[in-house]
Amino acid sequence: MSKFSVANVYFVVFFTTEVFATYVRQRPGPDDCEPVVIAHRGASGYVTEHTLGSYALAVTQGADYVEPDLVMTKDAHLIARHENQLEKTTDIAHRPEFADRYRSTSVLGFNISLGWFTEDFTLAEIKTLRTIEPIPRIRPGNTRMDGSMEVPTFQEIIDLVKGLEISQNRTIGIYPELKNGAYFRSIELPMEQAVVDIFHRNGYIGSQAPVYIQSFEANSLRILKNITDLRLLQLIGRVSQDNARMITREGLKEIATYAHAVGPHKNHIIPRDFRNRLGRPTSLVIDAHEAGLKVHPYTFRAENAYLPEEFRSEDPADSALGNLDGELEAYLATGIDGLFIDQPDYLVRLKSRICNW
Ligand SMILES: *[C@@H]1O[C@H](CO)[C@@H](O)[C@H](O)[C@H]1NC(C)=O
Ligand SMILES: *[C@@H]1O[C@H](CO)[C@@H](O)[C@H](O)[C@H]1NC(C)=O
Ligand SMILES: *[C@@H]1O[C@H](CO)[C@@H](O)[C@H](O)[C@H]1NC(C)=O
Repeated sequence: MSKFSVANVYFVVFFTTEVFATYVRQRPGPDDCEPVVIAHRGASGYVTEHTLGSYALAVTQGADYVEPDLVMTKDAHLIARHENQLEKTTDIAHRPEFADRYRSTSVLGFNISLGWFTEDFTLAEIKTLRTIEPIPRIRPGNTRMDGSMEVPTFQEIIDLVKGLEISQNRTIGIYPELKNGAYFRSIELPMEQAVVDIFHRNGYIGSQAPVYIQSFEANSLRILKNITDLRLLQLIGRVSQDNARMITREGLKEIATYAHAVGPHKNHIIPRDFRNRLGRPTSLVIDAHEAGLKVHPYTFRAENAYLPEEFRSEDPADSALGNLDGELEAYLATGIDGLFIDQPDYLVRLKSRICNW
């Protein structure tokens, strides 16, 4: 019994902590070389969005961060979906057992949408569904996987990332977006504390952790700021009256009081002209940097449907792949610090010229 003295225990604890710390220090991290590659909904250009398959491919392609959007189930589990409406991304419309859950949601008596909603389903029920490709016309290749994958929980995504960190021998970042924070708070399924609890429980603590939490809603971010030191990113939607203030110098200074970064729609950085070609860059990147904010615009996609006119391919089909590299190079020249992308391999290839690998 007495063979295991207190000194021995101290030594073992000290030794293992040191070895672990050395290992962690040596491992490359997601912020080591900018621009950071944020795999938008996984490698969603190649595998159905928000599936473990999509996140895994993104990591093996070299993405720095995987990006799940989060919504809540009835029993308060965080799951990865772009919206709480389920029929766009799952086979629920073909499940007779759930036909009676089809309903409308309303705000102040006006129907805002019809469908099946995550907050009406337990996680066990969600797990019986299978995912489908939400934009089959533009991503026909992904439809081959329709019906083959589950809706992942946020915890399953963290588990996948931790597993892949071993084979990749690098730290992989996680970059969740809270969807409709105010709405979920209004139905007593608040997401802010839930996402922080999962991160903290899994060892992601403090502003050095390889994490950003994003939201379009400043209120969600202010709540998060109160309960965690994890880094936060303020998303900024397309040019509109609502967000006109956010992109002013004063607006950016205000954002810097609660967030580390901004995620503007890419048109805020390089607006398109009347021919749908890239125009001249705005001062947003410079202004945001002056306010101490990183800039991670969204969303970069290789299909013609999304590209500026000058980078579309000769094949006019919306689904044809154009010159995404051309668009990426124009944006990298503005000094951005990272970006959200559906085909992470494109940016990883460009980065290999910049980074010292
Ligand atoms: C992991 O990467 C570090 C450097 O970043 C290197 O020293 C170490 O040997 C690598 N480990 C393996 C198993 O490849
Ligand atoms: C909302 O939709 C439901 C279901 O279709 C319908 O019964 C109801 O009358 C609608 N309400 C309004 C205000 O349009
Ligand atoms: C943050 O915490 C303070 C002090 O508890 C509180 O007064 C404030 O309302 C909180 N802000 C938000 C957005 O929750």
